[in-house]
Amino acid sequence: MAKAESPVPRILVVDDNRTNALLLERVLLGEGHQVDVASDGQEALERIVHHTPDLILLDLDMPRIDGYEVCRQVKNDPATRLIPIVIVTAQNAFEAKLKAWELGADDFITKPFQCLEVVARCRSLLRIKKLVEERDSAEAVVFAFARVVEAKSPYTHGHSERVAAYALTLAAEVAVPEDEWETLRKGALLHDIGKVSVPDAILDKPESLTPAEFEIMKQHTVQGARIAEPLRSVRDAVPMIRWHHERLDGRGYPDGLFGGAIPLLVRILSVADVYDSLASARPYRGAIPHQQCLEILRRDAAGGGLDPELVDHFCTAIAPTAAGVIGKALRVPDGLFDQRTPASTSFILKLR
Ligand SMILES: [Fe+2]
Repeated sequence: MAKAESPVPRILVVDDNRTNALLLERVLLGEGHQVDVASDGQEALERIVHHTPDLILLDLDMPRIDGYEVCRQVKNDPATRLIPIVIVTAQNAFEAKLKAWELGADDFITKPFQCLEVVARCRSLLRIKKLVEERDSAEAVVFAFARVVEAKSPYTHGHSERVAAYALTLAAEVAVPEDEWETLRKGALLHDIGKVSVPDAILDKPESLTPAEFEIMKQHTVQGARIAEPLRSVRDAVPMIRWHHERLDGRGYPDGLFGGAIPLLVRILSVADVYDSLASARPYRGAIPHQQCLEILRRDAAGGGLDPELVDHFCTAIAPTAAGVIGKALRVPDGLFDQRTPASTSFILKLR
């Protein structure tokens, strides 16, 4: 889809009444906007494909495709859903407005309209759209940055995506409300973003880390939180970034939180993160076979680390799927599994 290249906002006026359309066009041109005019819904949808507008003024009653359908299609398409739609209609009926509102319309102007009102509403919606776009692009940069950090190492490639998939499945399994899933997804995708501050020599060290190196490694939680904090749209995920290495027994880092002080979403993320870390090859060991991973999770939960109830749900309901995902995602040849790796909880304290 072509994108508006000019900084001058492009407004699409959709109205089968030529007098209204021309009046709106003249008013908006006078405000310095670019204006396209479509005489019905079908023409409007065709124009949107070729020149994405920054705002749409939309009549409801039109031949061929009506305004409701245009509104539905624009708001259902991820590429156009952020375009504000102002319904301009003679229908003052509550039902018509409610229906358009439910389809995603952003504002309403009733005919006959005041030109000043049209100008003011367009100005305010265009300002909001600009802010949303800036926020969206800032968020996109942070997620892209997290992917780049992860992709630097063949050992962590795809880790966050798998952790997000496991965490969301586990969240659904333990009935976490749906409105919290997006926060969990963001937390999972960003949880290790702070590894950008850890030197590659430590991240990819094939031997065990020295205590001093491990202290640097632990800082990825604090650094990650610092990266995400200024961005309002991912701020809810900061606890997951900072606390995903905390343990119920207080032996985790960076804050040594105990039990219930660790939020549920963080505990869910920890189970998913530990499983995927164990089941993937690391610079200092091979991938651990699936059943052995589950054994380690259970033993760690029994020892006071991971949440036992969540581990239980993970092992019974999630893990069969997880095994398949891991196998496909990593394409690990059987020989690469290190059968000698002992099933010890000390792994979890030293995971990186
Ligand atoms: Fe981590």
